[in-house]
This record gives sequence, structure tokens and C-alpha cells, in this order.
Amino acid sequence: MNRVFSGVQPTGNLHLGNYLGAIKNWVTMQAEYDCLYCIVDLHAITVPQDPKALQAATREVTAGLIAAGIDAKSSTVFNQSQVRGHAGLAWILNCMTPLGWLNRMTQFKEKAGKARDQAALGLYAYPVLMAADILLYKATHVPVGEDQKQHLELARDIAGAFNRNYGMEYFPLPEPMILGAATRVMSLRDGTKKMSKSDPSDYSRINLTDDAATIALKIKKAKTDSEPNVTYEPERRPEVANLIDIYAALAGQSSETVTSLYASSGFSTFKGALADLAVEKLGPLAADMRRLLQHPDYIDEVLRAGVERASHIADRNLREIEAIVGFLKP
Ligand code: TYM
Repeated sequence: MNRVFSGVQPTGNLHLGNYLGAIKNWVTMQAEYDCLYCIVDLHAITVPQDPKALQAATREVTAGLIAAGIDAKSSTVFNQSQVRGHAGLAWILNCMTPLGWLNRMTQFKEKAGKARDQAALGLYAYPVLMAADILLYKATHVPVGEDQKQHLELARDIAGAFNRNYGMEYFPLPEPMILGAATRVMSLRDGTKKMSKSDPSDYSRINLTDDAATIALKIKKAKTDSEPNVTYEPERRPEVANLIDIYAALAGQSSETVTSLYASSGFSTFKGALADLAVEKLGPLAADMRRLLQHPDYIDEVLRAGVERASHIADRNLREIEAIVGFLKP
């Protein structure tokens, strides 16, 4: 059976990069796959978190997923910490992952920065926990943005190492699914930087909670260059290419089609059309999210039911894995 697993961190606002790179694809995959979507609070605490803010962000991200179109009845939506198997399997996989593999991970280098010795062990082991998330459910497909590609290659290597160690094809090798026209949405202020929750400038990103006026203003202020025409040249004009990719992903068209549509227009026309499109697609999502957040009991119930369903699969698989590893259950 084909099973999808993917995750999102409950750290601050969901933004357009999360939506176009991941969540929009999660929604469409529900029709064909058995889907598990996880709010990864264990990953969030690899850097310091305020406990109250972490709780609030967990509810907010859950509301965002539902508002975006994840159907909590057919998909399993849950928070990672409450299914004990994630941490349990991560330990087993930690013990068979060579340090050399982790030393290659570029995200650790970016996040740890110069103060490497101050970074937590958990931040270093982060990609192993991610492998555990996926493998705990024997997921076959993992829809993510482009920035998670290296972590997914590692997850495949770890699955292969486990299978070889124990001489059996226990874990399927999970397939990354990096889909759509905007797999790497860039900052609206700097086309060489990824759109991210941690950017200090709010004008660098469109949050899924932004209202129509804010979305339009951020697009209007988005950096372009002094050339008058809309052309698609990602290397030379990264900011313009980013706006074209965003338009294409929101409209479900290719970047080439969008470019030819606006080739003879100036930026004010193109940005105006992009703002209208973004407001049309994201406005209802934001409204729904705000409405859901008025009902924390409903959100908690979604997570509770999700934890129960996820635990059912996770507990069974972890029991098998523990037997393979040789843990005695007297
Ligand atoms: P996170 O929380 O950083 O992001 C969630 C999803 O959004 C995608 N994304 C983007 N896509 C395009 N452009 C961007 N600017 C952009 N920013 C974020 C991410 O690629 C991701 O798909 N480690 C993961 C969470 C995770 C996970 C997993 C994912 C934990 N366990 C197991 C898949 C499978 C993360 O930090 O995502």
C-alpha cells in the first residue's frame, strides 16, 4: 500500500513557501494515498522554544492544515511528541547512522552557524528523527519542498542500512515528491534567500494569516530590478523568476505560460495580477484559519484522534522493529 508521511514544524507562522512547497501538494495527495501529516514538535525543540508559544503554534499549524484543505477524517493529523514511537525509533536509528553521514547535512551547518559547539545534540541528530518519522509508518512517499531533499536522501540511506544490517527488506525506501512550480519559494526581499519563518523582515514572506491588504502590499513592495519587462531568467533575475513561480504555482500553470502571458506587460500590471490571485487563493484560507482558532477544543480533538490513529500503526511497527533488533520482551 502507498502511504504518505510529511511534517511541518510548529514554530511561528505558516507562510507561502510552506503552502506551495508542501501543504498544497498534501491536499491533492489525499485522494490517492493513505496520508499522515505530522506537526513535528520534537523537531521544534532542537532550538529553544517558549512552552506557551509552542502550544499555540501547534494549534495554529493544525488550523492552517485544515483551512488549507486537509481532511482530518480521511488523513491522520497529529503532533509528533504524543506518539512515543518517533523518539523510540530515532534512538535505534541513531545507533546505526555514521557521524560522517550527518556531517554532510547542510541545514545543520546553516542553523548551527559559527557557534557549532553550542548547538544541541538534538539539532545535529534532527535528520535521523526525520528518518524515524517516515520509517515508523513505512511510508512510501514524502511530499516536501526542495530544502528537505538532502534529509530525504539520508532517510533512504538509513532505511537501506537497517535493511542490510538485519538482512531483510523491512523498510521501503521512501520516495521524495517535490512537486509544482514553486518547490523553493524565495524571500520577497532577496531572491537568493529562501522564504522562511525566521527571517526578521515580515515583508520577506506572505504569512497564511495575512489579510488581503497585507498580501497586496507585500507583493507591491516585493523586490524586482530596474528592467521594465517580465522575463524568466532565474540566474540573472532571481526575484522576478520567484514572483513568476509563485504566480504559476498559485494558478496551477507552468512558469513558461505565465511568462508569456505577461511578457509585454510592465511590473505594475504583473504585480497587480499576482496580488489579486494571491488574495483570491489565500484569503479564504486565512479566514477559515481565524475561524478555527476560535475553537481550540475542536483542534485539540482533531489532534487527539490523530494521535490515536497514528499510534495504532506506530506501536505495531515499533514492536516488530524491536523484535528485529533483539529487544527481549519478558
Ligand atoms: P518545515 O517546517 O521547515 O517546512 C514544512 C514544509 O514546507 C517546505 N518549505 C518550503 N517549500 C518551498 N519554499 C520554501 N521557502 C519553503 N520553506 C519550507 C519544507 O520543505 C517542508 O516540506 N524537517 C521538516 C519537517 C519534517 C518532515 C519530517 C518532513 C520533520 N519530519 C518527515 C517530511 C518528512 C521541516 O523542518 O519542515
